[in-house]
Amino acid sequence: MTLTPETYDELRAIGARYPEPRSGLLPMLHLVQSVEGRITPEGIEACADVLGITAADVSGVATFYTMYKRRPVGDYHVGVCTNTLCAVMGGDQIFQRLKDHLDVGNDETTDDGKVTLEHIECNAACDYAPVMTVNWEFMDNMTPESAVTLVDELRSGTEVQSTRGPRIVTWREAERVLAGFPDDLADDGPAAGPASLVGLGIARERGWTAPPSDASGSSEGVADTKAEAVAQADTSRAETETKQEEASDD
Ligand code: FES
Repeated sequence: MTLTPETYDELRAIGARYPEPRSGLLPMLHLVQSVEGRITPEGIEACADVLGITAADVSGVATFYTMYKRRPVGDYHVGVCTNTLCAVMGGDQIFQRLKDHLDVGNDETTDDGKVTLEHIECNAACDYAPVMTVNWEFMDNMTPESAVTLVDELRSGTEVQSTRGPRIVTWREAERVLAGFPDDLADDGPAAGPASLVGLGIARERGWTAPPSDASGSSEGVADTKAEAVAQADTSRAETETKQEEASDD
C-alpha cells in the first residue's frame, strides 16, 4: 500500500506539534500503523523524509518499543498480562487457554485476521489482576472462561465495552488515537475503578496531603536541578566513605 499525500500531511502535522519535530516520531509511527497495519519499510522512509533523519534512526526506534509491530496485527490486539501478580492470579492459565482456543502462539494472529494474541508485561493495573487488554483498553479481573468469551465476541463482531474505558474499536482505529487524532470516545465508559481509588479515599478521610513545597515549588531536600542532584549524591558518597574509613580505623 502506498501512503497517500493526506498521510504525509498528517505526519507533518504531528511533527509540527513539537518544538523539535523529531519528538513526534512515536505518534508518527502509530499513524503509520493505523494506515498500514504495521511498521512498513515505506512508513519508515516516510517518517525519515518528514523529519529529515535517516531510515536507520527511525528503524532503531521502531524496533525498540514493543508497541510497534513489524508483522500485520489483527483487528484486535489481545494482550494478556503474565507479569508476576497477574501470573499468580491466573494470567498464565488465561494465556495458555487462549493459545489453545485460538490455535496461535505468542504474537501470532488467527487465520481469520481478527485476533493477535500477545503476552504483555505489567500494565500498572495489578489492583484488577489478572488483567487483559484489547487494543490497549483494560479488561479487568479476567478468568480463562471470560477471556474465551471475550475473544469469541470480538471475532463475531459483537460490540465489546472495556471495563474501564470506551467500547472497543479496531486496532487501526486505536492506533490513530495514539497518533494524537482523538475519536471522542475518551469519556465513554468508566475511568478509574474503586480499587484504584482506595488510597485516595483513605487519604481524604484522614486529611493526608502531599508534603508542602517551598517558594520555588520544590519539596525540601529534593534537588531542583540535575547539578544539585549530582552534588547531593557526591556529598552523600563522601559522607559514607568517611564513615567507612572511621569504622575501619576503629
Ligand atoms: S502484574 Fe499485571 S498489571 Fe501488574
